Amino acid sequence: MVTLVRRPESGGPVPDDFALEHRPLPAVQPGQLLLRNIVMSVDPSMRGRLETSEKHYTTNFEIGQPLDGSAIGVVIDAVGSAIAAGTVVRHRLGWREHAVVDAASVSVVDVDAAPAGAWLGILGQTGFTAYVGLTRIAQLRPGDVVFVSAAAGAVGSAAGRFAKLLGAARVVGSAGGSAKVRALVDELGYDDAFDYRAEAAGDALTRVAPDGIDVYFDNVGGAQLVAALEAMRLGGRVALCGMISQFDESGAREDINRLIEAVLRRVTLRGFIVRDHEEARPEFEQTVSAWLRSGEVAVLQTVVDGIEHAVDAFLGMLKGDNVGKALVRLDTSWSV
Ligand SMILES: NC(=O)c1ccc[n+]([C@@H]2O[C@H](COP(=O)([O-])OP(=O)(O)OC[C@H]3O[C@@H](n4cnc5c(N)ncnc54)[C@H](OP(=O)(O)O)[C@@H]3O)[C@@H](O)[C@H]2O)c1
Repeated sequence: MVTLVRRPESGGPVPDDFALEHRPLPAVQPGQLLLRNIVMSVDPSMRGRLETSEKHYTTNFEIGQPLDGSAIGVVIDAVGSAIAAGTVVRHRLGWREHAVVDAASVSVVDVDAAPAGAWLGILGQTGFTAYVGLTRIAQLRPGDVVFVSAAAGAVGSAAGRFAKLLGAARVVGSAGGSAKVRALVDELGYDDAFDYRAEAAGDALTRVAPDGIDVYFDNVGGAQLVAALEAMRLGGRVALCGMISQFDESGAREDINRLIEAVLRRVTLRGFIVRDHEEARPEFEQTVSAWLRSGEVAVLQTVVDGIEHAVDAFLGMLKGDNVGKALVRLDTSWSV
């Protein structure tokens, strides 16, 4: 399992902040399951959980303790539970090859309907975040012009695709580097895109969305949020999903000092945490499963193999090594 050795310094996390350890598993008690993990998620919220001060989506990681996070595992032993050995489940004890979990805390997933990785990505919290952000928070309407940042990432690539399928007239995105920007247009269904590292976001938005934007799906905050506000049409809506540009001091923590733009343009800015919207999950799963079956959306993921490479996968995702959902496969006998 991967444990936290120390909290990151101001430059951000480095491999030596973590350790790979062998620890004995607790005995499986009645109502518990012994799992062999197949695949686990690495995601930006884990960056916030490395800190002491800032509470992010859930509890922070503890020094000397294993990390945790979403994972898919197969049951290899079940004591007094209706869930049989061989069942594949989604649960919260990633960052380890084996786990003992309460049966009541897992959800069974159908790996015949979609591969295990998809239940962490497009059909998991990632896709759900994109769906909730567009439908419940930004209240996307047919004909809207939509801008998505971190557009090639897990949530962003799903949001771009879903926005088109939900009736957006034009969807533009931003990502780091020319290869990703090309992929946004050639492979991921965006109408146009820009490299936020190479071009000021304000200039780029004038070019790719010359008539302004109705919806901004914000995964990054900072300079791109400021630029998006200045590009909003009257009555525009901003779904504040995440602020990955603001994690490290290098992110400069730009102030949102142009909020007069939100006043003048009657813009709604609304932050959200996806777990507050569980009532939307059945609609989401039904809608996106149908899109997957019809081929209108694809499973898009970057998979690194082996627990020994999990920290590299996490740090790489923070730097933008991934296209689609960043995953670590923990059991290579499974295709994910
Ligand atoms: N509100 C919620 O409930 C909720 C739930 C899930 C996720 N989120 C948020 O959604 C966002 C995306 O999460 P994800 O899991 O889909 O991760 P992701 O987009 O797959 O991975 C993170 C991406 O962020 C980009 N990035 C890194 N540093 C950046 C910077 N300084 N400026 C702009 N982009 C930067 C990188 O892409 P580039 O190569 O393009 O830089 C990287 O691929 C995160 O902010 C996350 O915290 C929120």
